[in-house]
Amino acid sequence: MPQEVRAVVALAKGEPVTVTTIVVPDPGPGEVVVRVQACGVCHTDLHYREGGISADFPFLLGHEAAGLVETLGEGVTHVEVGDFVILNWRAVCGRCRACRRGRPWYCFSTFNAAQKMTLQDGTALSPALGIGAFAEKTLVHEGQCTKVDPTADPAAAGLVGCGVMAGWGAAVNTAPVTAGDTVAVIGCGGVGDAAIAGAVFAGARQVIAVDMDDRKLTWAREFGATDTVNAQTEEVVARLRELTGGVGPDVVIDAVGSPQTFRQAFDARDLAGTAVLVGVPSPTAAFEVPLIEVFGHGGQVKSSWYGDCLPERDFPLLVDLWQQGRFALDRFVSERIALDGVEGAFDKMHEGGVLRSVVVLDRAGS
Ligand SMILES: NC(=O)c1ccc[n+]([C@@H]2O[C@H](COP(=O)([O-])OP(=O)(O)OC[C@H]3O[C@@H](n4cnc5c(N)ncnc54)[C@H](O)[C@@H]3O)[C@@H](O)[C@H]2O)c1
Ligand SMILES: [Zn+2]
Ligand SMILES: [Zn+2]
Repeated sequence: MPQEVRAVVALAKGEPVTVTTIVVPDPGPGEVVVRVQACGVCHTDLHYREGGISADFPFLLGHEAAGLVETLGEGVTHVEVGDFVILNWRAVCGRCRACRRGRPWYCFSTFNAAQKMTLQDGTALSPALGIGAFAEKTLVHEGQCTKVDPTADPAAAGLVGCGVMAGWGAAVNTAPVTAGDTVAVIGCGGVGDAAIAGAVFAGARQVIAVDMDDRKLTWAREFGATDTVNAQTEEVVARLRELTGGVGPDVVIDAVGSPQTFRQAFDARDLAGTAVLVGVPSPTAAFEVPLIEVFGHGGQVKSSWYGDCLPERDFPLLVDLWQQGRFALDRFVSERIALDGVEGAFDKMHEGGVLRSVVVLDRAGS
C-alpha cells in the first residue's frame, strides 16, 4: 500500500518551503523505502529552492540522511529490512563510460528510484539529488543505501551523505592533498570544515581557513586549521602567500563557489599548485581569466563532484574514524530541528550561526 507521510516540499521558485503530506509508493524492483531518522540541511537544498539547480518544481528537499530500511522491492539484495544506512546520490551503475574506464566516482548514470513520490493530488515530486529525505519515509534505489555502524547517531551519520563527504573528499580524493602539502580552504561551512579535517587526515603540514565570519574561523580551528584569514578584513590572496613563505598554498579549495572566491583559489595557489572547486556556483556566475595566466601558473584546476567519493568505500570509513575519535563528525551538528524548521535553518545558514541544522524525525533512534 502506498503510504502518506509528512515531508518538506519546495513548491515554487524562491518561495518558502512547506510541510505537507506526500505519497510514497510501494518499492518496485530494485527500490527500497527508508524510514528517515535524520536529515541535515545543506546549502544545496537552498540552491534548489531558489531554482538554481533545475526548474523541475515541486522539489522534495533533503539529501543528507540516515535511517532504517523498512520495505524491500523485488530483487533487492544489497540491503535487508532494519539495516542502518546513509543515503547517497552516487549509486554507481557499473556500465556507463566512466564506470567502464575504471572511474566509478564520476559515474554518469547513477541509479535512483524509478517510481515517483507524489503530492496527494498525484503531482510528481522531484527529489533533491534523487533522495528527498526531509520526509518521514523516502523511496530510493537500493544502491543509494550504504550500510554503516548501526550504533552511530543518525543526526551526525546522515551528514556524511553529502556536505561532509563532499568537503572531505575534495581534499582527500580530488586534490588530492598529500603528506607535507600546504592547504587553504575558502568558506568554512559544513563543506569547508570537512575539507579542513580531510586535509589534516591526509597529512597537510599547514591548513589555512578562510571565511568572512570569525565564529566560523574559530570552529575551523577545532577541525584542525592551523591559521585563519578573515576575508572581510584581510586581502585573501596576499595573506595566503604571506602565510606560506611568500609562495602560496599547494592546494586551495573553494567551498563557496563564487567568481570572487574561485579567483582567489586560482591566484593564491603556488606555481603548479591545485585549485579545487567544491562550492556550487550559481548558473549565471562566470569566470574569466587571461589564458596566459592559466598557462603561466601551471598546475591543476579541478571540480569536485561529491568529493569524488565512492559511498561504499568512503562512508563506512568516515563513520569508523568518528567512532574511533579521529574525526569530529558530531561537531557538525549545531542544532536538531523538526520538519517545520527547515525554512528557519535556511535563514540561520545566512546568519552564520550554524554549521548544520539537522532535522531529526526519530528521536528514539538518536
Ligand atoms: N560539490 C559538491 O558535491 C557539493 C556537495 C555539497 C555542497 N556543495 C556546495 O558547497 C558549498 C558550501 O556548502 P555549505 O553547506 O558548507 O554552505 P554554508 O553556507 O554552510 O557555508 C558557506 C561558508 O562560506 C562562507 N563564505 C561565504 N562567502 C565567502 C567569501 N566570499 N569568502 C570567504 N568565505 C565566504 C560563509 O561565511 C560560510 O561559512 C555550497 O555551494 C554547496 O552547494 C557542493
Ligand atoms: Zn556509471
Ligand atoms: Zn548537499
